[in-house]
Amino acid sequence: MRNVKIGVFDSGLGGLTSVKNLIELLPGADLIYFGDTARVPYGSRSSSTIMKYAKQDISFLLEKNVDLVLAACATAGSVLEPAYTASLPVPYFDVIRPAAKAATSTTQNGKIGVISTEATLASGSFKRELQYLGDYEVFQVATPLFVPLIENGYIRRGNIATTSIAEDYLRQLKSSGIDTLILGCTHYPLISDIIGYVMGPNVNLIDSGAEAAKSIANHIVGGCFGNGSLRVYTSDLPMRFHSIASMFLGDENNFISEQVDIEGFPPYSAE
Ligand code: DGL
Repeated sequence: MRNVKIGVFDSGLGGLTSVKNLIELLPGADLIYFGDTARVPYGSRSSSTIMKYAKQDISFLLEKNVDLVLAACATAGSVLEPAYTASLPVPYFDVIRPAAKAATSTTQNGKIGVISTEATLASGSFKRELQYLGDYEVFQVATPLFVPLIENGYIRRGNIATTSIAEDYLRQLKSSGIDTLILGCTHYPLISDIIGYVMGPNVNLIDSGAEAAKSIANHIVGGCFGNGSLRVYTSDLPMRFHSIASMFLGDENNFISEQVDIEGFPPYSAE
């Protein structure tokens, strides 16, 4: 009987796409979520700033005594160095490898698209991972306005603002012949209806948050036998986050949200 406490962080709402899937796959797990809502978005910042934020987020989760950490933020996962993540006292997971693996087992024609933040694109993380897995043609586009739209609740199918921005961003990808598109930012699955509508039925969407949750479920052999609790912390006032998060997670997943002063946490370092 194991009680596993899983720590998940993101710049804001995006990591909930992992949380939703973790609740389904590991109903007994106790989840601690940190959303850095006072400093979202991460994706248009420099890698040194993102690294500092991500290390503070990890520090906070480690203080909560989590048994593993999931960077449910592709942007953070793209800039954190492997030597750093290997130095953490608990196992570390991110969304990049699981999403790339899912894409390579989905594509039929070997043409894979990736949409992400600017920092993720600049890091080359998805392209590197995909090309490590095989000889794939990779088409990448940064779609930075999606995160603020999602954080502001512009997520419903048919939302005019989000749909017209998606049409503009995705035009070139649509004509590239891809059959698989990685939603390379964990926020994007919250608007997968809109992205799917714009890309059309012949393009399979890969949910990076969900794929990361599956990789954790595969890691925890035998399941979790805790209380199945969810505790949410945000760095800004939690009200708006709470209402969008509740809508996304559904009435059956009640949780308490609390504000935390993330600036008070020194970036975690093993030294
Ligand atoms: N969910 C984060 C990611 O996966 C959002 C990045 C941002 O805050 O810009 O990249």
